[in-house]
Amino acid sequence: MTRLTIRRPDDWHLHLRDGAMLAGVIGESASHIGRAIIMPNLVPPVVTGADAASYRGRILAALPAGTAFEPLMTLYLTEATDAEDVAAAAASGLVRAVKLYPAGATTNSASGVTDFAKVQGVLDRMAEIGLPLCVHGEVTDPEVDIFDREAVFIERVLDPLRRRTPGLRVVMEHVTTADGIDYVKSAEAGLAATLTTHHLIINRNHILAGGIRPHYYCLPVAKRERHRLALRAAAVSGDARFFSGTDSAPHADPLKETACGCAGCFTATNSIACLAHLFEEEGALARLEAFTSLNGAAFYGAAPAEATITLVKEAAPVTYPAKIETGAGPVTVFDPGYPLHWRIED
Ligand code: DOR
Ligand code: ZN
Repeated sequence: MTRLTIRRPDDWHLHLRDGAMLAGVIGESASHIGRAIIMPNLVPPVVTGADAASYRGRILAALPAGTAFEPLMTLYLTEATDAEDVAAAAASGLVRAVKLYPAGATTNSASGVTDFAKVQGVLDRMAEIGLPLCVHGEVTDPEVDIFDREAVFIERVLDPLRRRTPGLRVVMEHVTTADGIDYVKSAEAGLAATLTTHHLIINRNHILAGGIRPHYYCLPVAKRERHRLALRAAAVSGDARFFSGTDSAPHADPLKETACGCAGCFTATNSIACLAHLFEEEGALARLEAFTSLNGAAFYGAAPAEATITLVKEAAPVTYPAKIETGAGPVTVFDPGYPLHWRIED
């Protein structure tokens, strides 16, 4: 197959940042993505409905002319979050999910949750109104090895939280382990997972073997090969509980290429080409659309996109930029480590 038309993809987990970085990166998604769940980990975070309304306005203002892109806003859950504010922002259609960051788990997560009892009222209200909770699933206990933090989170935090909040709809974001895949599959209802493009392509050797490669460092950190294979199998299976959330997370290069570099892979530019490549490798191109354009919409109760994009496979490798220039500095584009032959037709 050398041409494939699919419904316009959505991105169910995207970092756009703010200001000059927002202006520099938004076109990389808006050129081919219809809707995206926008992460709220700005500094300061997007906590209230009013914060989300104003951030949405800044995103729309930064959109290149002629792009049809709908930002689906989220709120950053803090121990002071007001359940009624969340419910009102959801009822108005502004806010589509609430994001849980365990305090200290990742970039800009200092305002996240430490004492889960303090957010139970918000979680109960979300269960009542059907508003999904997007979860960064890693424990922050320094005693727990960083490669085990997702599996331990499921056991210590996520499963107890779901049991005490019946009916709460949960998205385990950027699952990186076979344990995460198994947990999602074990749930009867109301649990789904996003999978990033980069976690389907790299394992921990890509970060650490033969030199340290900061542009492959993200959180949760990529795991062993057997975990990557489990993620890939879930992604290409067509199982409606798994869908694409790139977690494309731009940081200016100097902030990554340093003694203590930031976590995040920037994949917005070539994510669809990478996904087409890997679904083709797995003999699953017919299920690419489910992963990018159908399953997430169904979970979030949105109609699938009417618009389509056409992917074209070129005989010669397609050149994607190694970096994009933004007003906040250069941002390195994710390198899958092999030539890409797919491109999106103009
Ligand atoms: O690698 C990551 N980068 N993981 C996250 O959870 C946050 C993100 C960011 O905001 O840079
Ligand atoms: Zn993220």
